[in-house]
Amino acid sequence: MYADPERYGLRLTRGVLHVEAVPLPEIAAAVGTPTYVYSSAHIEARHDELARACASQPTQLCYAVKANSSQAVLRTLARRGAGADIVSGGELVRAIAAGIPADKIVFSGVGKLDAEIDAAISAGLRAINVESAEELERVATRARALGRRVAVALRVNPDIDPDTHPYLATGLRESKFGVAMAEAEALALRAAAIPELSLVGLACHIGSQIAEATPFLAAFERLRGLVLRLRGQGVALRQIDLGGGLGIAYTSEEPTLDVASFGAAVTAAARSLGLELVLEPGRFFVGNAGVLLTRVIGRKRGEARSFVIVDAAMNDLIRPALYGAFHPIVPVSAAAAGRGALRADVVGPVCECGDFLGLDRLLPWPEPGELLAVLGAGAYGMAMASTYNSRPLAAEVLVKDGAFAVTRPRRTIEALIADERVPDWLA
Ligand code: LLP
Repeated sequence: MYADPERYGLRLTRGVLHVEAVPLPEIAAAVGTPTYVYSSAHIEARHDELARACASQPTQLCYAVKANSSQAVLRTLARRGAGADIVSGGELVRAIAAGIPADKIVFSGVGKLDAEIDAAISAGLRAINVESAEELERVATRARALGRRVAVALRVNPDIDPDTHPYLATGLRESKFGVAMAEAEALALRAAAIPELSLVGLACHIGSQIAEATPFLAAFERLRGLVLRLRGQGVALRQIDLGGGLGIAYTSEEPTLDVASFGAAVTAAARSLGLELVLEPGRFFVGNAGVLLTRVIGRKRGEARSFVIVDAAMNDLIRPALYGAFHPIVPVSAAAAGRGALRADVVGPVCECGDFLGLDRLLPWPEPGELLAVLGAGAYGMAMASTYNSRPLAAEVLVKDGAFAVTRPRRTIEALIADERVPDWLA
């Protein structure tokens, strides 16, 4: 049950799960549940491990803010030297607010608004990763209007199948992302010819949850020819951005990425072209740094299945419902493990059949009021949460050594209602 708690930033001390040196029951008592709890040490260790693996070539790690955009998490990474990969004007404001310098920020995304492009140009980002011919002209137009020169990279769709969940494969010919290979050279030449644009590189992002270097290298090979052809025509680039998507193991059965050999392979590739490397990892930094702490409301033995009903739900963590994703769920107190185990679905209170955190789990039959931890919830957990069923967002806590801080207080339902307006004729 507790195989390898360190994998999830956890420790089992005196029979109780801790994040770093803080017992989870202490956090639940102080902050309530459901609460996301993150380990600073885990985030820092993942960042530093990848930075070390890439140390032999100038590399900028641009954290994909979408994975977990909490200010506390962003600041933790900013302090280690991380930049940011952003996909909206909102993420730009968040990244800058957290102290990430603009020249370490790249801006991806298929649907950038003029206002977002303007903000990016004014901030002076490291690169706007342009995703279509139309967008290239729009960026140029906005740069001209603002009287600025802007660094752009061309996000190419390398048509690589990374063997992952269909929703997470972004570098296939069929996907909406990036510029088609066939179109890329002409577009890069066009970019190089526009005085307001400085074409600094090529970028790609082939998908998520990729546990080996091979698909990244395959994507790189597609881009290499393009880099050389452009060089032959006098267009020199500065960087090659291989995107994010570095996988993590949600369970001990899943393969783990060999970070050292991944780093060695991608830096060697970048070095062979004399280019700086950019990577955009999201999940890799934060995925296993967070748990969702939840309390058992009650149990129910149905005719066909048994249920453990908890106070976290699909609005807090949608990955199981949306992708069929597996997150381990364990009792916070090991004493529970002594009880007989039972197969049950772990479900939330939301009125949807898709509201489950885990199906058919072998769990010690928990008592109402007991705490459970949903593991591997640091990435795309809180970031994808909603207030469906008028459930206020979960609280968030960051742990450092023996201390913890509430980084997002739980909102009240009154605050949610206060955000709304009733028209005069209904007042
Ligand atoms: N760069 C770009 C351009 C991206 O679109 C993404 C993720 C990343 C980097 C970071 O990918 P990561 O390193 O985190 O795999 N909600 C899904 C994941 C969606 C990923 C979208 N793009 C999930 O919960 O699995």
